[in-house]
Amino acid sequence: MINAFIIVAHTADGFIAPASKDGQAVPSTVWTSGADKKHFIELTKKAGVIIMGLNTYYTIGKPLPKRLNIVYAPAGTAPIDGVEMTDKAPTELLADLEKRGFSEAAICGGSTVYTMFAKAGLVDRIYITIEPKLFGKGMTIFNDSLDLNLSLSNITRPSDDVLILEYKVKKN
Ligand SMILES: NC(=O)c1ccc[n+]([C@@H]2O[C@H](COP(=O)([O-])OP(=O)(O)OC[C@H]3O[C@@H](n4cnc5c(N)ncnc54)[C@H](OP(=O)(O)O)[C@@H]3O)[C@@H](O)[C@H]2O)c1
Repeated sequence: MINAFIIVAHTADGFIAPASKDGQAVPSTVWTSGADKKHFIELTKKAGVIIMGLNTYYTIGKPLPKRLNIVYAPAGTAPIDGVEMTDKAPTELLADLEKRGFSEAAICGGSTVYTMFAKAGLVDRIYITIEPKLFGKGMTIFNDSLDLNLSLSNITRPSDDVLILEYKVKKN
């Protein structure tokens, strides 16, 4: 099966997005570092395919170039140029991507999509960037219970204030 990894930026207090004041999601690019953006571009371009939910897509607002953009959206959502909409089960989607020649897929959030792939047992690696930021309240990476065991396979410190942790998900 294709290798799927989660890539996420966290505040030091464990949030992936601030609490919404007006129902509008805040794009991660507003608060993440240049080091995280570079890391995200490198890994996602290497994979060649990014998978995200519609809410996350709206915070980005355009397809990311040089990568296949797959967006989870409810059936009937209006098509978006440069994006493949899907509502397939995660296993089916990854099998389909494998048939199309991909060997890796980047799971790019948000919480709904991270949780769906993690609960399906389809995540092989997790990259967490720890940003020097606190939100106090907000959205966490997962929105449901999980029981996954990890091994810490790499730590990088691309700048004084930023850490990138790479975990492997232990398969039972
Ligand atoms: N810090 C980071 O690294 C990072 C990364 C990515 C995103 N984020 C943040 O995460 C937030 C968005 O997360 P979110 O959980 O609200 O939304 P999301 O995961 O981005 O997207 C949810 C959307 O995907 C649809 N969807 C999910 N599973 C589906 C399925 N199996 N079939 C069809 N449609 C499906 C949902 O449809 P339904 O409405 O029908 O459920 C909903 O429209 C934003 O604030 C964003 O900034 C942070």
